[in-house]
Amino acid sequence: MVRAVRDAHAAVSEMTAAPAIQTRDLTKRYGAVSALTGLTMEVPRGEIFGFLGPNGAGKTTAVKLLLGLTRPTAGEAWVLGRPVGDREVRRRIGYLPEMFRYQDWLSAREVLALHCELAGLPRNRWADEIDEALTTVGLAARANDRVGTFSKGMQQRLGLAVALLGRPDLIFLDEPTSALDPIGRHDVREIIRQVRARGTTIFLNSHLLSEVELVCDRVAVVDRGRVIALGTIPEIVGETRSVRLRLENPDSAIEAVLQRHGAVERSNGWYIVREIWPGAIPELVTDVVRAGGRILAVEPGQPTLEDRFLQLLRGVP
Ligand SMILES: Nc1ncnc2c1ncn2[C@@H]1O[C@H](COP(=O)(O)OP(=O)(O)OP(=O)(O)O)[C@@H](O)[C@H]1O
Ligand SMILES: [Mg+2]
Repeated sequence: MVRAVRDAHAAVSEMTAAPAIQTRDLTKRYGAVSALTGLTMEVPRGEIFGFLGPNGAGKTTAVKLLLGLTRPTAGEAWVLGRPVGDREVRRRIGYLPEMFRYQDWLSAREVLALHCELAGLPRNRWADEIDEALTTVGLAARANDRVGTFSKGMQQRLGLAVALLGRPDLIFLDEPTSALDPIGRHDVREIIRQVRARGTTIFLNSHLLSEVELVCDRVAVVDRGRVIALGTIPEIVGETRSVRLRLENPDSAIEAVLQRHGAVERSNGWYIVREIWPGAIPELVTDVVRAGGRILAVEPGQPTLEDRFLQLLRGVP
């Protein structure tokens, strides 16, 4: 008995202290198809982690492995400090599957009640949990309407509400914004930030790069089952390598000054200087001013995650 209590305590402290997710060489093959190959990574608590990749890259497979819905061909994974599939851990996880469909004839509230039951939440907490989840996703006013009358975007919000029930420590969202308009996407980003602010870790599958760029702390880029990049967005996108300037008095003398700092192009009234080290920008500005240039604007070029993503998929190191 004492031992059982001690073990239970050990399990609980493991679940609160360990990283949200750890994987080692996690691999899944379906016959000849390598859906995921040798995934090794760690997601710390409280992070919004993006898992990015083109269609068929292995994103959903990774989530299913981490949820214990499918078994790995090789490798290991731990979620909240316990091996995947652990029953206690499953209670602490929320999941928004891709392409889910709830029962058309149930109301939003009934769908959520069903999931409270499936998650084993104590019945006296259902009403509060459901109200909170509905309010968070902005569906409180539609709580008693049938799912069959919901738009795609509303169904996706309901899916998000299901994932939030019971205030999980870790939430997997598989393409949570695929059906949403720009306002809906903005709302979901806000919800994700709000949920993270209360300490929840979020694992977000997506191919919407601009979305991910806006909300994720770190991302992994997967392609054909392999992780080809992992890190913060600035780490993946790389340093700014260009700067653009607008001058009141552009002329060839100043252009020659700019050329000392990098490859120069002119576009829509701007000078673009490429292949410049960011630390060299103050010298560039000083040189232009010394040469009599009157500077109206200086802007570092912003490489986007999408640019880098396309390069990575083409094999550019
Ligand atoms: N149950 C299955 N049986 C056979 N092959 C599968 C199965 N599930 C996934 N695959 C294959 O594994 C690969 C990865 O699929 P997965 O669904 O993980 O991709 P994804 O990155 O989630 O793509 P999407 O962006 O289209 O959702 C694909 O080649 C897919 O055909
Ligand atoms: Mg998928």
